[in-house]
Amino acid sequence: MNFELTDIQREIQRLCREFAAKELIPNARKWDEQHAWPTDAVKKLAELSLLGIAVPEEWGGAGLDNVCYAIAMEEISRGCASTGVIMSVNNSLYCDPVSKFGTPEQKEQFLKPFASGQKIGCFGLTEPEAGSDAAAQKTIAVKRGNEYIINGSKNWITNGPKADAIVLITMTNKEAGNKGITAFLVPTDTPGFTRAEPDKKMGISAAWSCSMFFEDMRVPEKYRLGKEGEGFKVAMSTLDGGRIGIASQALGIARAAFEEAVRYSGERKTFGKPIRDHQAIQFMIADMAMEIDAARLLVWRAALMKDKGVRHSPESAMAKLYASEMASRVANKALQIHGGMGYSKEMDAERHVRDARITEIYEGTSEIQRIVISANLLKE
Ligand code: CAA
Repeated sequence: MNFELTDIQREIQRLCREFAAKELIPNARKWDEQHAWPTDAVKKLAELSLLGIAVPEEWGGAGLDNVCYAIAMEEISRGCASTGVIMSVNNSLYCDPVSKFGTPEQKEQFLKPFASGQKIGCFGLTEPEAGSDAAAQKTIAVKRGNEYIINGSKNWITNGPKADAIVLITMTNKEAGNKGITAFLVPTDTPGFTRAEPDKKMGISAAWSCSMFFEDMRVPEKYRLGKEGEGFKVAMSTLDGGRIGIASQALGIARAAFEEAVRYSGERKTFGKPIRDHQAIQFMIADMAMEIDAARLLVWRAALMKDKGVRHSPESAMAKLYASEMASRVANKALQIHGGMGYSKEMDAERHVRDARITEIYEGTSEIQRIVISANLLKE
């Protein structure tokens, strides 16, 4: 076992840390307040090859490993959690399934421009009545000749308002349950596709999401991703990777909150000394540091397993569950250390609490992660 990062992994960490310090940290509060999509930051992520990190170079990506991806996600999210999830969705939920299940023709059209960051992708799984119960898809795709006619809707689609294409999950055979689900690649300029205004959310306000609607949308058969009936496996295996991204995002948010709390605890004085000289604060700092490290070990283990090509559903679920709940605990403790100032919009502590909260919900709630972990442990 080796806890040392490789030279490339260390270089990615340095590069992303520098980018976050220069471009993200100075702007993140403003973007959050203004609900402003970070256009320039996303462009620079593309220039740094961070939008298709683990996609092979021949398909426009950086050709790096998933540990690099986790490291990059942590550093970028430490700078701005909204930018972090935009990056995670494009890497994990869009590029990864196209890379894994796409034909060479599909990769040319739907992977190259997205992994290189000229275009941006999203993942259409969630519906008003298919959130945790992902197999309950009501978006219907009916085959007519060599195309499919798609009707239905999706909601909470991160990157949706900006996306050029969707990995779209549909139902093609209701009687077959989760074996009747089929995935497609759909350009968002397809007639019959419309999207709503960006959602109003509690946190990650600069990462836009929206509902989208499909009305008699005609999609050629050649845009089907994988075989008919294989869409549930496409979606679930995609989420195994996505959960590594969200766990890393949570880790980045926790680190931002922790580092600010440590700094503030040296500046703020009570009872004649900096608050970090009080044991009550020291114990909080010790617990926060330990939890961040524990989460990182779980995240890197899941990323290593993905690199080895072995199924890592429970490991990803453990990483996402622990890191997201840890991020909320750490962000709340950081706010507490800031006292009244933590509750003020003049500081970032309150934003970290709001940003951390969503990591316990999207890409599978904490309750879903517990189902995935226990189902894997208890299966005969
Ligand atoms: N990889 C490959 N195959 C998988 C799989 C995986 N990770 N997980 C399940 N499968 C397969 C199973 O092996 C099974 O196949 P067989 O019948 O051939 O054995 C089949 O899929 C059905 O599996 P389950 O019986 O476990 O399915 P289920 O209906 O009980 O549901 C669930 C499982 C874990 C609850 C699933 O519905 C789930 O993960 N729900 C949460 C969905 C979610 O995370 N949504 C987030 C939306 S995306 C998002 O949030 C994006 C964003 O904005 C950032």
